Amino acid sequence: MSFVVAQITDTHLALTKPFFRDNFAVAAAAIRASKPDLVINTGDVSVNGADLREDLVAAKGMHDALGLPWIAVPGNHDLGDTQETARKQPINDERRRRWLDVFGPDFWMRDVPGWRLLGINAMLLGSDLAAATEQEQFIAEAAAGLGQRQLALFLHKPLFVESPADDEVSGHTLTPRSRRILMAALGGITPRLVSCGHLHEYRERGFGDLHQIWAPATAFTISDWFIPTHGGEHIVGYVRLAFDVDGSFTSQLVQPEGLEPLDLADYPEAYGDLRQIKAAMDAQKSQLAAAK
Ligand SMILES: [Fe+2]
Ligand SMILES: [Fe+2]
Repeated sequence: MSFVVAQITDTHLALTKPFFRDNFAVAAAAIRASKPDLVINTGDVSVNGADLREDLVAAKGMHDALGLPWIAVPGNHDLGDTQETARKQPINDERRRRWLDVFGPDFWMRDVPGWRLLGINAMLLGSDLAAATEQEQFIAEAAAGLGQRQLALFLHKPLFVESPADDEVSGHTLTPRSRRILMAALGGITPRLVSCGHLHEYRERGFGDLHQIWAPATAFTISDWFIPTHGGEHIVGYVRLAFDVDGSFTSQLVQPEGLEPLDLADYPEAYGDLRQIKAAMDAQKSQLAAAK
């Protein structure tokens, strides 16, 4: 019998900015009906948990109301972004502590038949927080103690776009430095599956023995003019994963009826005017390129 995970991501929930709550309710109803063994949210659970505890509390309450076992890893909007690339709200101890208070651990491990599920805080990798070292040790121990199990890694940001050798420093994926730290902690173990969110783009692609899933967001899509796709699709949905005792797995995109492909550009109250944000992102990209 498989161990079934419903992976949701980028739910962007808040009490006072309720734009994406209906989509969460639609996904929640579909997930409840499908009775998975575990729900994993790969981050950006909240609109602005990085600054507002109340957003984290609201998002936590909505996950509890699922009535299913669930666990989450944080996203950049939940406890701040990667220090190397953050334009605002870098991860720090205060932001992280808020996440820990409301959601519990930001890195964790679950063993299921044939598999070890490892959830990590992508923004903590390579940060100046003392907990960054604790997380590296945790990853190293999880990888070293795998035994016959396969490793499935869950984190908010994609590992890379094309290959681990990508050298672009960007907020879209782990930075080369964060990726190196993660690989070193894994000690030569290649996860069989790495599943993430963050780009609001659905893509599945293999790289050698590694299968990478970029799960689609539950909350909203992003227009191509704002962030072009990387070979995937800007759609909404979630991913159903079935892990088997023999170390195999299957993945399936689920798009429940009633889940609306809301475009973030239509909700400037959520994160501001996307055209202005795009201009700032382009300027930062030029700066990073010039600094190379
Ligand atoms: Fe997101
Ligand atoms: Fe994100």
